[in-house]
Amino acid sequence: MPARLINDVETAVTELGAGRLVAIPTETVYGLAGNALNESAVAGIFTAKGRPSFDPLIIHQSSAERVLQYAAEIPAGARSLGNAFWPGPLTMVLPKVPEVPDLVSAGLPTVAMRVPNHPLTLELLKRLDFPLAAPSANPFGFVSPTTAEHVAEQLGDKIDTILDGGPCQIGLESTIVGFPGGEATIYRKGGLAVEDIERVLGRPVVVREHGNSRPEAPGMLSRHYSPGVPMELFDRIENATALPKYSAMVLFGRGGKEFGRLEDHDMDVYDLSPSANLSEAASNLFRVLRELNKKAYRCVAIETVPESGLGRAINDRLRRAAATE
Ligand code: TXA
Ligand code: MG
Repeated sequence: MPARLINDVETAVTELGAGRLVAIPTETVYGLAGNALNESAVAGIFTAKGRPSFDPLIIHQSSAERVLQYAAEIPAGARSLGNAFWPGPLTMVLPKVPEVPDLVSAGLPTVAMRVPNHPLTLELLKRLDFPLAAPSANPFGFVSPTTAEHVAEQLGDKIDTILDGGPCQIGLESTIVGFPGGEATIYRKGGLAVEDIERVLGRPVVVREHGNSRPEAPGMLSRHYSPGVPMELFDRIENATALPKYSAMVLFGRGGKEFGRLEDHDMDVYDLSPSANLSEAASNLFRVLRELNKKAYRCVAIETVPESGLGRAINDRLRRAAATE
């Protein structure tokens, strides 16, 4: 039976309370949620995603106070960031209390936590007496879903229920910050700009680049978000030459339409944001990557976006989508 889309929080409360999984909307991407304190629910998340069990999950709660009770230590910087950005696209990795199952943290002494900013999910979390463990609701290695329909397409035969909260406002996963040795460190660039974090902390933060063999956020392997078509990145699309027939170009800020066609070249042209707005580009990115995959182009030439604000996370996802190993 395919998954049912629901709008009522009540049904989601019942399902999750019974230890079953529900896909939930957030402002970043949809999550595949289960009771974080129930090991068999958590095990079910790994099975449904086909995710290697060494990859730890984020726990979600309705407020900073409720989520921070799962942290054994809270550095001053973590308190400031929580106050400034929760609910919002910030995940913090902190030492965990024993109550959080090792399965959630994949055996690490730390756990990732966040307060998502979506009215339906905040309402849901308020009504539950446990946190929700939720990775992005995509099969392992694929693009994260930003609508309930994306979840249904990719995981519809693996889960029963999807709480439909409309399209995700931000469209990029949360920014992950840890505090190794007491220093705020970005493990994953995402929906909260590094500059905003630095402004609140009053100093520069370390940004760990992914792609090494033992990444700090293990899900951040180079080859991720793979759209399954050959992709090449360019600083400027003018540098792309001689694309074969049935290719596509992905642009940024070219002032035209979001989608167009060059009939002579049998080429589709996408602009992530014709008006050069990075928030708009972020919210279109995963939908476009999905589209590239569906159309199975022979080749895709992509123009990177300016490397500032959300642009850093967008370029990071583009580079990983284009990576071949
Ligand atoms: O926006 C988001 O963060 C979404 C929504 C649903 O909240 N969730 C999400 O979860 O993107 P997921 O599981 O797809 O990515 C979480 C990342 C993984 O790369 C994981 O390795 C990392 O967080 N992570 C989790 N716990 C960690 C820990 N204790 N130390 C370091 N990295 C951790
Ligand atoms: Mg993910």
